[in-house]
Amino acid sequence: MLETAAAAAAASASSPRAAAAAVVSSPRRGGAAAHHHRQWSPPPFRACLVVLWLVGFGFVILWQGTSVGRVRLYTRPPMPKRAAASLSLGQWVASPPVYDLREFGAVGDGRTVNTAAFESAISAIAERGGGRLTVPAGRWLTAPFNLTSHMTLFLAAGAEILGIQVSSDLVSNKFGHNGTINGQGQSWWVKFRRKLLNHTRGPLVQLMRSSDIIISNITLRDSPFWTLHTYDCKNVTISETTILAPIAGAPNTDGIDPDSCGNVVIKNCYISVGDDGIAIKSGWDQYGIAYGRPSANITIQNVVIRSMVSAGVSIGSEMSGGVSNVLVENVHVWDSRRGVRIKTAPGRGAYVTNVMYRNITLENVRVGIVIKTDYNEHPDEGFDPKAVPTIGNISYTSIHGHRVRVPVRIQGSAEIPVKNVTFHDMSIGIVDKKHHVFQCSFVQGQVIGYVFPVPCKNLDLYDERRELVKQSTLQNISDIDYSF
Ligand SMILES: *[C@@H]1O[C@H](CO)[C@@H](O)[C@H](O)[C@H]1NC(C)=O
Ligand SMILES: *[C@@H]1O[C@H](CO)[C@@H](O)[C@H](O)[C@H]1NC(C)=O
Ligand SMILES: *[C@@H]1O[C@H](CO)[C@@H](O)[C@H](O)[C@H]1NC(C)=O
Ligand SMILES: *[C@@H]1O[C@H](CO)[C@@H](O)[C@H](O)[C@H]1NC(C)=O
Ligand SMILES: *[C@@H]1O[C@H](CO)[C@@H](O)[C@H](O)[C@H]1NC(C)=O
Ligand SMILES: *[C@@H]1O[C@H](CO)[C@@H](O)[C@H](O)[C@H]1NC(C)=O
Ligand SMILES: *[C@@H]1O[C@H](CO)[C@@H](O)[C@H](O)[C@H]1NC(C)=O
Ligand SMILES: *[C@@H]1O[C@H](CO)[C@@H](O)[C@H](O)[C@H]1NC(C)=O
Ligand SMILES: *[C@@H]1O[C@H](CO)[C@@H](O)[C@H](O)[C@H]1NC(C)=O
Ligand SMILES: *[C@@H]1O[C@H](CO)[C@@H](O)[C@H](O)[C@H]1NC(C)=O
Repeated sequence: MLETAAAAAAASASSPRAAAAAVVSSPRRGGAAAHHHRQWSPPPFRACLVVLWLVGFGFVILWQGTSVGRVRLYTRPPMPKRAAASLSLGQWVASPPVYDLREFGAVGDGRTVNTAAFESAISAIAERGGGRLTVPAGRWLTAPFNLTSHMTLFLAAGAEILGIQVSSDLVSNKFGHNGTINGQGQSWWVKFRRKLLNHTRGPLVQLMRSSDIIISNITLRDSPFWTLHTYDCKNVTISETTILAPIAGAPNTDGIDPDSCGNVVIKNCYISVGDDGIAIKSGWDQYGIAYGRPSANITIQNVVIRSMVSAGVSIGSEMSGGVSNVLVENVHVWDSRRGVRIKTAPGRGAYVTNVMYRNITLENVRVGIVIKTDYNEHPDEGFDPKAVPTIGNISYTSIHGHRVRVPVRIQGSAEIPVKNVTFHDMSIGIVDKKHHVFQCSFVQGQVIGYVFPVPCKNLDLYDERRELVKQSTLQNISDIDYSF
């Protein structure tokens, strides 16, 4: 497994689809042969990053407070302390080099195009096998650029990276003193709406086939398309991140899209965007089935989301690699069309299983909890309609809220029945209608203790001591009503 991951990580730097991507990949990249006899190896990359990050704060202070010389200290390669063979990998032995973007001629006036400065800084870091690029306060206009492995892009307070409005796909990543990456997506949204684009728009930050990534304390705004797309990545932490886009008229500006990723933590974030806040995915129909890379072990905690045109937290609709072991906890969804949603369709195959929602607050939301199994959008005619997904083992615990029109709409079908859904401790203030607001079809599961509004007849009822009160015989009846 690890070898595969390493190979995939190595591929990332040269994959064309890594364009405009912030690629931070595994320390194992660089070719298997070179590694076989090496005597020194870097610490696990997660540790590297954390160290870099902490050291980073020191540097920012030092650098701002005292001398540029301190930074320059690292502009020459450190003396090698080990065999030349593995040095070709370019790993640093002492401290990682630290560069300031201005050393490469960049000007942060919001008008000068700094793409070349970013590129030379990053190739300097690549040559050294890693390091840190500090982007100081200022407005740094640039076309898309690639990151490299073992790199920290550190945005100081007041730093803003601005995407050029005319280029094809966009910019890069990540953590620091709550600096901003601004995709300036307005012109893209307009072109998309007028159908003037021949290609898909680029995400603002894209990480592909990489591992051990930390994105923290940064603001990402006005992405042309999805804001932060992690694709086929492992060990990703996204925290203290603010993601903003207009809540209307900014098509497809999803906040975070973990896509075929394992071990992802998203916590302490604020997201207000023009599409889904967070959308967990794993590939689309026959292509996703063939690629076969699930999204699994995903934790979303302490996140506030507004999604006026779509959903707070979505799973799917592209889930053909499978989605499992998802915890969504302490999440507040407000002024949104949907709260937490699972979407799929025949043709997707795979599964969505072991999903736990806990302590979810819904405020002014049209439909709170959604499972939809007929989302029939397909990439082309080549999908297999017999590839039906299985959906089950989903629990909703401590779900509260007010001003919700339809708290629950779980729409299984004869082909894709929804199995083993559990509700425990739910009370949601509804807007007006008192009937048909807990809608179900083809769903099997249970309600434990008191739940408001009154649950659909499809579910078995248990008391708080987990003793059966009433077993349902009507799992397949349908009470789905789209009229409100
Ligand atoms: C990023 O790297 C890939 C592969 O090396 C390359 O094809 C692509 O053009 C680069 N993108 C940019 C924006 O430099
Ligand atoms: C985030 O950035 C702010 C603004 O510069 C800074 O004060 C704060 O210490 C940073 N927080 C963390 C957790 O890094
Ligand atoms: C980061 O900046 C945004 C505004 O750009 C602000 O809303 C947010 O509270 C800041 N986050 C932190 C952690 O300082
Ligand atoms: C899209 O393609 C058409 C026809 O191939 C071409 O005329 C047009 O300039 C292209 N538009 C863009 C924005 O590239
Ligand atoms: C992910 O992190 C775990 C624990 O920190 C580590 O054991 C594992 O090797 C990492 N996986 C990858 C692919 O880097
Ligand atoms: C999820 O976690 C389990 C148990 O720790 C592990 O076996 C599995 O490989 C992980 N899945 C992914 C996609 O990382
Ligand atoms: C529930 O989540 C909210 C945030 O939405 C948080 O403020 C609260 O402390 C959480 N409650 C518990 C019991 O964890
Ligand atoms: C639910 O979990 C059980 C036990 O892990 C498993 O056997 C079953 O296949 C799962 N059902 C669904 C629909 O995911
Ligand atoms: C139902 O799902 C719960 C998790 O929500 C799981 O613990 C339990 O084993 C499942 N039961 C069956 C019969 O699959
Ligand atoms: C409901 O439909 C499913 C298939 O879609 C079937 O397996 C199940 O037996 C039906 N349940 C009842 C109670 O009729």
